[in-house]
Amino acid sequence: MAESGGVNYDLTNWPDVDLDRVRTTFREVPLVAYPELARYGRPGIHEALAGQGGLFLASDMAKRLALSPGMRVLDLGCGAGVTSIFLAREYGVTVDAVDAAIPEDLANRAAAAGVGDKVRPIRTDARLLPFDPGAFDAIFSLNSFFYFGTDDLYPPYLISFLKPGGEIVIGCPCYREEITSDTPEELLLEFPACLAVHSPGWWRRHFEKSRSATVLHSALHPRGVEFWEDRVRFLIEEQPPREMPPWKRDMIHAMIRMLNRDAEGMVSHFILHGRKDRIH
Ligand SMILES: C[S@@+](CC[C@H](N)C(=O)[O-])C[C@H]1O[C@@H](n2cnc3c(N)ncnc32)[C@H](O)[C@@H]1O
Repeated sequence: MAESGGVNYDLTNWPDVDLDRVRTTFREVPLVAYPELARYGRPGIHEALAGQGGLFLASDMAKRLALSPGMRVLDLGCGAGVTSIFLAREYGVTVDAVDAAIPEDLANRAAAAGVGDKVRPIRTDARLLPFDPGAFDAIFSLNSFFYFGTDDLYPPYLISFLKPGGEIVIGCPCYREEITSDTPEELLLEFPACLAVHSPGWWRRHFEKSRSATVLHSALHPRGVEFWEDRVRFLIEEQPPREMPPWKRDMIHAMIRMLNRDAEGMVSHFILHGRKDRIH
């Protein structure tokens, strides 16, 4: 339970939800919309990824970058490194896979996927990056940027690691508009981390005001709400809720309650795509 300012954000004591209704009303992202992911199947698209959208969102992000074999990419907040392996396999790039809690087995999984020479796991804080300025052709960050990237000084710091002309793409949960003191409690998932979840317009200004990169795109993903629903569907179909550990059941219930409360599509996902100008 997290508490703040006298408001009780108890995420553990919610009434049961009607899972049959969830199964019939929550949408699944259709696999046919992503032919490039056919060989992964639904489990491969979600498995070991820690957030919504899975490889669907990752693929849409990667398509925005002008990636070509041999380029060097920073996968920032990579978690288990599923996207690092994905980028190396699908685009032939070399990937520095950075996370504060990177798993020991990433190098082995990359080798098993045939990209052991292309994925370099690095355990470090995203605010203490051990790279030279201009080291990367591209920066990619899925479902993690809000944990470390909201400081005003972070965009220019991060962009300094891009080559001139290099690109950044961020995909994350977002609010359609900034939350306020009136935002319903059900929408404050993972409080207080959700206080760092912003709107696409906020993220655009966050990067633009630093003048470190040109923002080419920062907008809601057209499947932004669907990604939440799809994730819930995957989680309850992957494992019967009665067999889940309590923390996981509570997390899924919190997501369902949030989506049921959110008639206006306030919770969604966004993509930001920017480029470091050649003059910097
Ligand atoms: C929701 S997970 C997403 C992981 C992965 N990108 C994915 O899509 O599965 C967020 C990740 O951000 C990482 N993270 C949070 N704060 C961080 C920081 N300050 N530096 C580096 N990584 C951080 C966490 O360790 C976690 O792996």
